[in-house]
Amino acid sequence: MRPFDGRRVLLGVTGGIASYKTVSLARALAQQGALVDVVMTRSARDFVGGLTFEALTGRPVHTELVAEGHALDHIALARQNELIIVAPATADFIARAAAGRADDLLTACLLATDAPVLLAPAMNDRMWAHQQTITNVSRLRSLGYVVVDPASGALASPDEGSGPGRMREPDEILAAAAALLGTGSALGGLRVVVTAGATREPIDPVRFISNHSSGKMGTAVARAALRRGAHVTLIAGAISVPLPDGCDVVRVGTTEELAGAVRSALANADVLVMAAAPADFRPKSVPASKIKKGPTGPGAIDLEPTPDVLASTMDARNANCIVVGFALETDDLLANAESKRTAKKLDLVVANDATEPGAGFGTDTNRVTIIGPDGVTAALPLMTKDAVADAILDRVEGLLSGR
Ligand SMILES: Cc1cc2nc3c(=O)[nH]c(=O)nc-3n(C[C@H](O)[C@H](O)[C@H](O)COP(=O)(O)O)c2cc1C
Repeated sequence: MRPFDGRRVLLGVTGGIASYKTVSLARALAQQGALVDVVMTRSARDFVGGLTFEALTGRPVHTELVAEGHALDHIALARQNELIIVAPATADFIARAAAGRADDLLTACLLATDAPVLLAPAMNDRMWAHQQTITNVSRLRSLGYVVVDPASGALASPDEGSGPGRMREPDEILAAAAALLGTGSALGGLRVVVTAGATREPIDPVRFISNHSSGKMGTAVARAALRRGAHVTLIAGAISVPLPDGCDVVRVGTTEELAGAVRSALANADVLVMAAAPADFRPKSVPASKIKKGPTGPGAIDLEPTPDVLASTMDARNANCIVVGFALETDDLLANAESKRTAKKLDLVVANDATEPGAGFGTDTNRVTIIGPDGVTAALPLMTKDAVADAILDRVEGLLSGR
């Protein structure tokens, strides 16, 4: 599914270094089926050429209210679009927008539109922290503009600070845009709970038993659900990838904590996707102090099974909740996955082989087979985890439409 298929988006670009990232944003919007009208401020043209956006969107780029003696119909331009995104939004642009100015094409479009407006500010961290900017941003928020707060981290110039100021990544802006558009997906407005990453079972206060799960698959599912306009709760154990912006995040340590968090989140969930890799065993007892290193070692550690998250939370699911489980196996993949599906009353099970190159833990790609309610299998080719996430949610949408 392409979330922006046929949707009209006005993409405003203002004069900041982060406009190089807006090139990827324009490309992603166009690739996902949006008709993108790019409006650049004059200053933005000093940073990126209009030709780049024209080539990527296949449409003319606009800057001036009046060009070559003709007035551009900025009212029509503003009204025919279903969403306005301004990325990056400079401090100066934010100030002009907050003051209600209309002295260039982009600010004039803001005044002429009824569409939702999404701003992705980018600036030096001191400019972002200045009271003038804080006042301007809160004024725009009070008018209903959605602002994706900048992230902390290295800014363009090496002598700049590392406080908030850096524009969010195109992926995160896309997720916020999809949520605002309510992309027409059957998941739009639904509550989706996703688990991701590994749980850790303590051996003593400093050591643990765990597995190699990176959280890449679970976070990809969370991002895909956000793009489709769902409200997403991400329950994350140990992960080695950034958390997606725009979802509610619950952090957990042990498998028992994961089961508790899933139980609480299930109360009003429409979809549960269990992409986490819980540790299946834990030490029967955990000493209060660190086990001393010594020539003989600690000896055998007695293990017991951890709670089975799906089985122990089955009674908390509402009857219509669609539940997707993952089966990561090294032997008898499909048989094991199918018995997991029936034993745990899953609607879908996503089976993957941990030993296959390019699939399983830590990779950016996966090769999965999805087993549906009737036991019918669909073997997918090797694809990115983002594409696998979309394939899973396409199946979930299919099930939702049949209910
Ligand atoms: C090299 C350079 C980088 C700049 N980067 C930013 C920036 O990241 N954020 C910002 O708010 N202003 C930045 N500015 C200042 C803006 O370009 C300036 O305020 C301009 O008037 C913004 O115009 P616009 O909002 O119409 O695009 C930068 C200026 C220069 C010369």
